[in-house]
Amino acid sequence: MYRTNTCGELTLSETGKKVVLCGWVQKSRDLGGMTFIDLRDRYGITQLTFNMEVNSSLCEQARTLGREYVIQVEGVVAERYNKNKNIPTGDIEIIVETITVLNEAKLPPFTIEDNTDGGEELRMQYRYLDIRRNAVKNNLLFRHKLSMEIRNYLSEKGFIEIETPFLISSTPEGARDFIVPSRMNEGKFYALPQSPQTFKQLLMIGGMDKYFQIVRCFRDEDLRADRQPEFTQVDCETSFVTQEDVLQTFEGLYKDLFQKMKGITMEDFPRMTYDKAMNTYGCDKPDIRFGMPFVELTELLQHRHFAIFNDAEYIVGVCAENCAGYTRKQLDALTDFVKRPQVGASGLVYLQCNEDGSFKSSVDKFYTQEDLQAVASKCNAKAGDLILILCGKKEHTQKSMCELRLEMGNRLELRNPNLFKPLWIVDFPLFEWDEETQRFYAKHHPFTAPKPEDEYLMETNPIAVRANAYDLVINGVEVGGGSVRIFQRETQKKMFKVLGFSDEEAQKQFGFLMNAFEYGAPPHAGIAFGFDRMCAVFCGVDSIRDFIAFPKNNAGKDVMINAPSTVSKEQLNELNIISTVKDIQ
Ligand code: AMO
Repeated sequence: MYRTNTCGELTLSETGKKVVLCGWVQKSRDLGGMTFIDLRDRYGITQLTFNMEVNSSLCEQARTLGREYVIQVEGVVAERYNKNKNIPTGDIEIIVETITVLNEAKLPPFTIEDNTDGGEELRMQYRYLDIRRNAVKNNLLFRHKLSMEIRNYLSEKGFIEIETPFLISSTPEGARDFIVPSRMNEGKFYALPQSPQTFKQLLMIGGMDKYFQIVRCFRDEDLRADRQPEFTQVDCETSFVTQEDVLQTFEGLYKDLFQKMKGITMEDFPRMTYDKAMNTYGCDKPDIRFGMPFVELTELLQHRHFAIFNDAEYIVGVCAENCAGYTRKQLDALTDFVKRPQVGASGLVYLQCNEDGSFKSSVDKFYTQEDLQAVASKCNAKAGDLILILCGKKEHTQKSMCELRLEMGNRLELRNPNLFKPLWIVDFPLFEWDEETQRFYAKHHPFTAPKPEDEYLMETNPIAVRANAYDLVINGVEVGGGSVRIFQRETQKKMFKVLGFSDEEAQKQFGFLMNAFEYGAPPHAGIAFGFDRMCAVFCGVDSIRDFIAFPKNNAGKDVMINAPSTVSKEQLNELNIISTVKDIQ
């Protein structure tokens, strides 16, 4: 037997017990007569003690053990003289009788401690060492527990987990596909699934009724803190349900998870239409932990002598409470923030509501005190508040103001990571128009059903068609999204027509689904949650990478295994791919 116990479980009640432990040498302290070693495994840390007077050769041996050596020790549990109240095993130590070195270790390139000296790049290169640290280890344990709770909940509600294929065919909609050449079918390619969307619909047609899958998805898109090229979804689909049924079921899941994972009893989740979210927060995933709603000022601020406002399609303000005292430097910093390319505003106008009832603004010379008073009233500002104003094209300005609002939320520490504010966004538009390609795209995906009362607009005014589509947003993060699906061939055909597919193209790409609709497809609806994002949101963290054992960096690379990498000419030949890359070995 390698071990009788782990390093995280022995307490005073085991005093006198003979034990065998295995683990890594976290650190050793040599105090002349005594040597102490902290032995670490997944479960915790246990102190090992060696006394020079009792056994000098063992003590000498202990002193030769380097950091991260893998050892096995045999000894007796004893009460500790200097107790450590910070760890569960802090009352005891092991009086060691024998040491076996199971494996030596090179000096690790960074310290394996909570506050490590290793930078991100180095830790990614040696991810297996990083995983030994509490921060990463605890995140992986959290992820495991969350997935178990989800599986238990859904299974109890009658959902069954079914696997769907990874080697599928490429479709032109959505993000870019990762493609995989087929050796056996010359010139043909598989694609890795961006989601199991069509398969889960086929499972409904197959009568499976309630499906879920915790499943890897692949999207070749630009990476951000909350995006990985391969990520995990909690993917769900149900037959014979309405949007309301779906929202109720999955709100139930989240309430259960908040209770079990965080000990929080959640109230019913509020709902907001897409239009209201865009007009009030400038985005479809608002962080409602704090207020600062948008106030449209277009009417109020035009028709004076300030040309920039007069020419703007849209003028919008937000009120930052108690910020009238911002210094020139702070206001300049905000102006610099909005001018960043990612935010994209050309400038920032501010209005300070002074304590004495007067107003000071960066556009004072164009407006009277009465004008400014009217703006303050519209923004519900009181003395001591600061109003921040942006203008320009409507959509663009909403986006910039959304960023500025979040920045102010950060600066004013209004985005408390221990507070959870979920929100359903409903009534998404079915389509969005793309100026560049001059065509409509499905806002969610092409299998989303129009609201029955809007379906007649599909041919005449597609942009006005709303969908029974919904997103779950928590603290400003889109954790999931779904919709009621099209389940009739004719509606699906209409959908593809608006998206610019000819009948032949639609048949070629999605014929399998449209044909299936002709064999008794039940009404169905579903949703998918970003599982990595769920982990991060529950833990109040921005980066999903922290919850993935082996994530990719911002360039989509795994620097530990050096992926992606080149392949040999022979491999390419076998796949019938002519190489255009010069440096193939
Ligand atoms: P959607 O594309 O909205 O819907 O994806 C569902 C959820 O998956 C998460 N997500 C991601 N997480 C990490 N990295 C990524 N690159 C990434 N992309 C998406 C988000 C998102 O809300 N088939 C539909 C669902 C349905 O209609 O049932 C779908 O995939 O949290």
